[in-house]
Amino acid sequence: MATLITGAAGRIGACLRRGLPELGHRLRLTDRIPIEEHGVDQIVGDITDPATLAAAMEGVHAVVHLAGDPSTSASFESVLAANIEGTYRVFEAARSAGVERVVFASSNHAAGFTPRQESAPADTPARPDSLYGVSKVYGEALGRYYADRYGIRVACLRIGSFEPRPPDARALSTWLSPGDMVRLAHACLTAPELTYALVWGVSANTRGWLDLEPGRALGYHPQDDAEVYAAEFAGLDPADPDHAWLGGRTVES
Ligand SMILES: NC(=O)c1ccc[n+]([C@@H]2O[C@H](COP(=O)([O-])OP(=O)(O)OC[C@H]3O[C@@H](n4cnc5c(N)ncnc54)[C@H](O)[C@@H]3O)[C@@H](O)[C@H]2O)c1
Repeated sequence: MATLITGAAGRIGACLRRGLPELGHRLRLTDRIPIEEHGVDQIVGDITDPATLAAAMEGVHAVVHLAGDPSTSASFESVLAANIEGTYRVFEAARSAGVERVVFASSNHAAGFTPRQESAPADTPARPDSLYGVSKVYGEALGRYYADRYGIRVACLRIGSFEPRPPDARALSTWLSPGDMVRLAHACLTAPELTYALVWGVSANTRGWLDLEPGRALGYHPQDDAEVYAAEFAGLDPADPDHAWLGGRTVES
């Protein structure tokens, strides 16, 4: 049985395409952009198209749902198509095909208007900081519904800053390294005890302010720490929105 990755042509998709097969996962890929790699099992199409998804879900036991507009400044029209309709279509196609588990790429922006606190719980109540954040709250709610109503095992990853290396001072707290992204997806794809979970998608950052325990309970043991890059950045003023809010400067944009 294969694991389907939606949005597989994107940045996180490229990381998982490389990393998950090394951990024993057989992958099926889908994206509206073709992936120009030899020998990949892929279905090219849009996640708002049920026929594309029905074909993509055949013989699949798990889905990592990444496809969508990833911008905090995305317009309503864009999140409506890709993140709202598309995410519904993905969950519904998964249910219809008998898929056992779905890993959904949510975001810290689902709770961005929460003042920063030490060890913020992974189930920090929804306080979206953008229409993008609203669409991630909606995806988490869909996941909860499909878990409760249909018994699909669902993990929602509130991803911080996925980058090859931390891009700024804030990311010393919110960075998710490529290696830890693979470890997190693998844990959520294999944890036997998963029913429904919200977990932060961040590395083991010395300056982290997000509670990693719910991820650890699923077997996610991050190995990277943004601190090794700390000398590259000046410290953050506590009044700086990047420090003051879970959503960072998005709350003021
Ligand atoms: N990168 C981050 O730091 C970060 C942080 C939090 C959450 N996320 C979430 O993780 C997911 C992946 O992020 P990314 O950085 O890889 O983004 P990305 O833009 O690099 O990749 C998204 C992919 O989805 C595809 N896509 C978009 N709309 C589609 C549609 N309607 N049908 C089919 N394919 C479609 C795009 O072609 C693209 O390849 C997104 O849902 C994003 O919101 C990312």
